[in-house]
Amino acid sequence: MADENKIKVTIDGKSVEVDPGTTILDAARQVGGDVVPPAMCYYSSLEGSGGKCRTCLVQVTKGSERDPRPMPKLVPSCSTAVMDGMEVSNKTSDRVLEARKGVVELLLINHPLDCPVCDQAGECHLQDLAFEHGVSQSRYDFKRREFDKVDIGEYIKLHMTRCILCYRCVYTANQLTENREHGVLKRGDAAEIGTFIEKNLKNDFIGNVIDVCPVGALTDKTFRFRSRVWYTKPMDAHRNCEKCSGKSVLWMVGDEVTRVTARKDEYGEVKEFICNDCRFDSKDVSKWTIEGPRKIKRHSVISANHYSKEIPKHTTLLNKA
Ligand code: SF4
Ligand code: FES
Repeated sequence: MADENKIKVTIDGKSVEVDPGTTILDAARQVGGDVVPPAMCYYSSLEGSGGKCRTCLVQVTKGSERDPRPMPKLVPSCSTAVMDGMEVSNKTSDRVLEARKGVVELLLINHPLDCPVCDQAGECHLQDLAFEHGVSQSRYDFKRREFDKVDIGEYIKLHMTRCILCYRCVYTANQLTENREHGVLKRGDAAEIGTFIEKNLKNDFIGNVIDVCPVGALTDKTFRFRSRVWYTKPMDAHRNCEKCSGKSVLWMVGDEVTRVTARKDEYGEVKEFICNDCRFDSKDVSKWTIEGPRKIKRHSVISANHYSKEIPKHTTLLNKA
């Protein structure tokens, strides 16, 4: 029997019943698969996130049962609540796909194409977005923004040229750590992530800004240039930790732990943030209880070679041929 307190929304022809107040993006995540719009700034566990990047734009073709008029403009799915009877097009809308190309072009105006040397390559959401929605040419002819790389702490390097100003790291620091130490300074095309007075980010949980950054703007200095992520073997592991749950992922090369991160879901989001001790100071494998290989749910270069997908039945295995 249908729950009367739920409301029905249809996205790309797939219907789901959700609680009132749910956003279109969260409703799509309840359906899963292709109907889920990409999101570069929204992060479900960070209050206030979303509404900055416009990658999640969708077309509302029917407003609701009571008022079926379509919405004239594309809307950000991360900050638009569903209405009962609403119909939404994501991948099935040419307008959305065209707009997303424009968003990628805009995000790439200042973002360097330095994937071959960037530590985020393979797990970069912008790289995936550009691969799926981008165009090969930019129409922008003016000077790009340039910044020097900055050490913003013992463990974190900021490449401001790669930043897409999604604000996730700012919300993470504000909501997870005790002090507000950095933010977005200035406005418009002068806006930048900074600590205002040259200062270090040092806080037990500040390393999480690296995990929430969708691009390679904030990188782990203990891992930089050590390996491409797809050459490492991610293992679920935990340790007894006084500060956090200790549930982490060890990125191994042989028996060596090259980096430690929190566990991310298929949308690249961390549900249990980890402390700096686990992330930066526990690279000795004997400090961990290994649970087993991590299943990488996110569809990206990062999941290549980890054999988490079933082989289609019609595929002939080479060693059987
Ligand atoms: S540094 Fe990364 S997380 Fe912070 S605003 Fe820039 S892109 Fe977002
Ligand atoms: S994810 Fe919706 S605007 Fe960025």
